[in-house]
Amino acid sequence: MKKSIIKGTGMFVPPNLIKNQDLEKILDTSDEWIRQRTGIEQRYWIEQEGATGSADLGFEASKRALKKAGWEPEDLDFIIFATLSPDIFFPGSGCLLQAKLGLDSTPTLDIRQQCTGFLYGLATADAYIKTGLASKILFVGGEVHSSGLDKTTRGRDITVIFGDGAGALCIEGVDTTENAGVLASSLHTDGNLANALMTELPASRLPIRFPEGVSLSDPRYFPVMDGPAIFKKAVRMLPKVINESLEKAEMDLDQIDLIIPHQANMRINQALGQFLKVDENKIFHNIQKYGNTTAASIPIALHEAMEQGRIGKSGDVVLFAGLGAGLTWGSLIYKFL
Ligand SMILES: CC(C)(COP(=O)(O)OP(=O)(O)OC[C@H]1O[C@@H](n2cnc3c(N)ncnc32)[C@H](O)[C@@H]1OP(=O)(O)O)[C@@H](O)C(=O)NCCC(=O)NCCS
Repeated sequence: MKKSIIKGTGMFVPPNLIKNQDLEKILDTSDEWIRQRTGIEQRYWIEQEGATGSADLGFEASKRALKKAGWEPEDLDFIIFATLSPDIFFPGSGCLLQAKLGLDSTPTLDIRQQCTGFLYGLATADAYIKTGLASKILFVGGEVHSSGLDKTTRGRDITVIFGDGAGALCIEGVDTTENAGVLASSLHTDGNLANALMTELPASRLPIRFPEGVSLSDPRYFPVMDGPAIFKKAVRMLPKVINESLEKAEMDLDQIDLIIPHQANMRINQALGQFLKVDENKIFHNIQKYGNTTAASIPIALHEAMEQGRIGKSGDVVLFAGLGAGLTWGSLIYKFL
C-alpha cells in the first residue's frame, strides 16, 4: 500500500503586521493582558483596502510548497482546502485556488473543520492515497479572519487572538516498505457544542440570511466564543486524543520527536506539555508571531519547524493535535521517510 509522504511545505502571511500595541489603540485591551493570557505578541491581517481572500493567501503558500516539491500545478490530482473563512459564500475556496493555479479540471474539496482543518485534511489526503484515488495532493489551510472580527471592546476576547495566513503541503503516495507517512489519526466532533464558538450570520436556516432589522454591527455577525469552556475542554481532550493516536500507531511519547499542536493559546499548549510530562522544547510554538490562524496554524508551524531543522530528517516522528470550533478535535502521527 502506498504511504502518504510530505514532499514540500509553504506558508504565507499578509504584510500588514498588527502588534498588540496597535490593538490597544482600537479597543480596551493591553499588550500585557494579551501576552499573559495567550502568549501572542503580534499577528498579520490583510490590508483594509483591496480584496484578499483565503484563496489568495492559499495561492501564495501553494506556490511555495509546489516549488519545494518540484511539482507543477498540472501534476496535482487532488486539492483539499480547509478554511472557516471562505472567500465568498459559495463556491468553495478550493475552486478559486484551483483557477488561480491555472487549472481547469483537477478535483477540489473544501472542508469546514476550523482549527482541526489540517488534521481532517491530512487524514482525508491519506485515505485518498491509500485507496488509490489520488497520488499527488495539495492540502491548503487558509484564513482571512480580520475582515470578520468585531474590532470593538465587545469582541476583544476573540479579536486579539486571530490572525490571517495560509499554510500548504504537497503530499505524494509513495511505494515503500518503510513504516513511514501517516501512521495513525484520531478525529472527533461534538456538534452539541457548536454554540461554544461560532459565527451565526448570515444563516441559510433563516427565511432571510441577512435578517431585516438586524444591524450589521449585531454580535451575531461576528465570532463569539465561550473561551474558558473551550480552554478547559482543550486541556482535557487533547491528551486523551493524543493517546488514542499513540495507541493506534503502537508507539509511546518517547518515540515522538516533536509535538506540533494547534496554536490557539500558548497556555493551552504549556498545560498540554505538563499533562503529558514532556520536555517543554518538545512542543512547537509560534503563536507569538502569528496568533491563531485556525486551519493555517498547524501547516504554518510544520513549515517553520522544518525550516528550522527541528523536524524533517528520515525517521523523525511528529505528532499533530488540535481542538476548535465544532467542537472538533483530533491528533495525527507522521513519520518522515
Ligand atoms: C479567550 C481566552 C484567551 C480568554 O482568557 P481567560 O483567561 O479565559 O479570560 P476570561 O475569558 O476568563 O476573561 C477574564 C477577564 O479578561 C477580560 N478580557 C477578555 N478579553 C480581553 C482582552 N483582549 N483584553 C483585556 N481583557 C480581556 C474579560 O472581560 C474578563 O474580565 P472580567 O474578569 O472583568 O469579567 C481563553 O479563554 C482561551 O484561549 N480560550 C480557548 C480558546 C480556544 O482554544 N479556542 C479554540 C480555537 S479558536
